[in-house]
Amino acid sequence: MKVLGIETSCDETGVAIYDTEQGLIANQLYTQIALHADYGGVVPELASRDHIRKTTPLIQSALKEANLAADEIDGIAYTAGPGLVGALLVGSTIARSLAYAWNVPAVGVHHMEGHLLAPMLEQPENRPHFPFIALLVSGGHTQLVKVDGIGKYEVMGESIDDAAGETFDKTAKLLGLDYPGGAALSRLAEKGTAGRFVFPKPMTDRPGLDFSFSGLKTAAANTINQSIKAEGELTEQTKADIAHAFQTAVVETLAIKCKRALKETGYKSLVIAGGVSANKQLRQGLAELMSELGGHVFYPAPQFCTDNGAMIAYIGALRLQNGEHSDLAIDVKPRWAMTDLPAI
Ligand code: KG4
Ligand code: ZN
Repeated sequence: MKVLGIETSCDETGVAIYDTEQGLIANQLYTQIALHADYGGVVPELASRDHIRKTTPLIQSALKEANLAADEIDGIAYTAGPGLVGALLVGSTIARSLAYAWNVPAVGVHHMEGHLLAPMLEQPENRPHFPFIALLVSGGHTQLVKVDGIGKYEVMGESIDDAAGETFDKTAKLLGLDYPGGAALSRLAEKGTAGRFVFPKPMTDRPGLDFSFSGLKTAAANTINQSIKAEGELTEQTKADIAHAFQTAVVETLAIKCKRALKETGYKSLVIAGGVSANKQLRQGLAELMSELGGHVFYPAPQFCTDNGAMIAYIGALRLQNGEHSDLAIDVKPRWAMTDLPAI
């Protein structure tokens, strides 16, 4: 079965084709980052308009990449939520209309289920086996999920305020880095001196698996202000030292909560996914944790950590094979609990 996947939930237009026999056979991505950079964040209306411009040409490029004609596509998957309503409506309208015209089934996919199962796009030896604990860390979500199978999800903990990626981006902005600054902050942190600044590890001193990151951003803001008072304009080294302290606090906080979730369940596999899972220090910290616990950590290839169409095409193929499909109504879910998904 060959499934076309369309992702338009935020600021990336992703189109891919997943073949249940050959695996991923096309993967096209257009990122709107430059479009939103001047505004310091995603402008929803601009995002929707750009998805309108880019989705159809990317579908044509994906078909060309896979050397397929339109009538060789057996189904269409699209991100139905969560995400920006206007952006979701673009992808779902195009997907639904094409499926009607091509007379194939369409299925709405949950964006976070896409992230969660993105490591399944790796080579067989690098794919996790059920059950596992998943740490989902993106620009909009921070969740610890107990995963017992496809669609068998239990959210064990989540952020009560900012998401991990959002905190990276806000702190990066305070340090004068362009939006979205997560990756740039992490590169800066590599030049930082460990221990010059130490930031708190929020909510690790009490039981439970929820996260809170807004205080860390405040700690960074205070340190920046004190450093400006002490040394005038911040030197590159001071910025790097602050980035290092911030990143260390985030990574250690996430690792403490992962350890708790693994101990509570007795599970030995950990998956990290979502944009922040591209972070090298986080990957290293969690690899150390898993070797201490005698388990394994799994993550997607860097291009499948951030938003992409491949993860949507993959989940779409699984769900279409399971007989699921959406009706003709164009229905998106800007808010959608992953626990509402049917099990396969
Ligand atoms: O999953 P994603 O592409 O989009 C959402 O669904 O939100 O995640 C984007 C987030 C942004 O906040 C971005 O700054 C962050 O992932 N990110 C990183 C890194 N690469 C991307 N954060 C920290 N370190 C990185 N290397
Ligand atoms: Zn995402």
